[in-house]
Amino acid sequence: MIRALSELRTVCLNERGDTVVILDQTQLPGKEVYVTLSSPEAVWDAIYKLKVRGAPAIGVAAAYGIYVCVRKIDTLDNSVFMNEFGKIKRYLASSRPTAVNLTAALDRMESVLVAHPFASVREWKELLYKEAVSIREEDAAACLRIGENGLRLLRPGMGILTHCNAGHLAVSAYGTALSPIYLGQERGYRFKVFADETRPLLQGARLTAYELRKAGVDVTLICDNMASIVMRKGWIQAVLVGCDRVASNGDVANKIGTSGLAVLAHYYGIPFYVLGPMSTIDPSCPNGDSIVIEERGAEEVTEMWYKQRMAPEEVKVYNPAFDVTPHELITAIITENGIFYKNNH
Ligand code: MRU
Repeated sequence: MIRALSELRTVCLNERGDTVVILDQTQLPGKEVYVTLSSPEAVWDAIYKLKVRGAPAIGVAAAYGIYVCVRKIDTLDNSVFMNEFGKIKRYLASSRPTAVNLTAALDRMESVLVAHPFASVREWKELLYKEAVSIREEDAAACLRIGENGLRLLRPGMGILTHCNAGHLAVSAYGTALSPIYLGQERGYRFKVFADETRPLLQGARLTAYELRKAGVDVTLICDNMASIVMRKGWIQAVLVGCDRVASNGDVANKIGTSGLAVLAHYYGIPFYVLGPMSTIDPSCPNGDSIVIEERGAEEVTEMWYKQRMAPEEVKVYNPAFDVTPHELITAIITENGIFYKNNH
């Protein structure tokens, strides 16, 4: 793995295994600051405020988070423990609604308890630890396989457009949309990557540009409204994006602005690839209209990142954090299990 990236630990446990340690992504690219989380409120806040973000990383943070919180529950009574577990689980699940990985990881942690009804509370805690570690390790392994599968569709020297951050910072290693780019970088593909800045929280400008540069990838930052011109100039041969929830009909929720890119790519005849782990597919969700889209505070649009407020006081603001790309506009969904083309999902 590219060394500069492996030094960045998005989410992990401390050495004693009693605290979650995250790289605070709200402070990037200026400062690499690690913060520790050991209460439900701290974990909730870190997810809600995007200190840790990106669908798979949120899942890992929630799994480690619920483990460090419930290991402190001082009871030998299984029903008391289960009750407390349920309260913390529901609370953490309420931090962000769109990425399915959050609830999927929490459900998976709970299923460990349900699967071992005769275990003691002490044994339950050990099982929860192992499950959280597995969630992280499986995520890292999946990302590598997503990268290998994605790279099969790319050629050396290609221009690639990406949106938001679906890289190393959003997962346990490599990323999803950025994973083929890193594998290609290691193998001399010399891609030319264009990163959308991704308004309003600038995950592209702050995070994607930061991690690609750190890994030595040729990256050019553009504003979100510049995608059309770079496509028209012929500089883009593929669009690679991540996903927060894939409905069973193939519709995809991802960072706001993704669906507009898919429309543009369709117009210019550029393949539009969505990359994500199988854990981001939600079989219980029939289509994109059923996905709950997170709406966030107006200040993210009107003043955050500006030296002074840039919008009139009291202007109405609509700030959806995600949008849905209809499956017709997606060339293929690339997972660790293979490449699914639009006509055979
Ligand atoms: O609001 P964010 O920064 O959590 O949104 C992240 C995205 O939309 C990513 O593209 C998605 O979670 C996939 S991360 C591998």
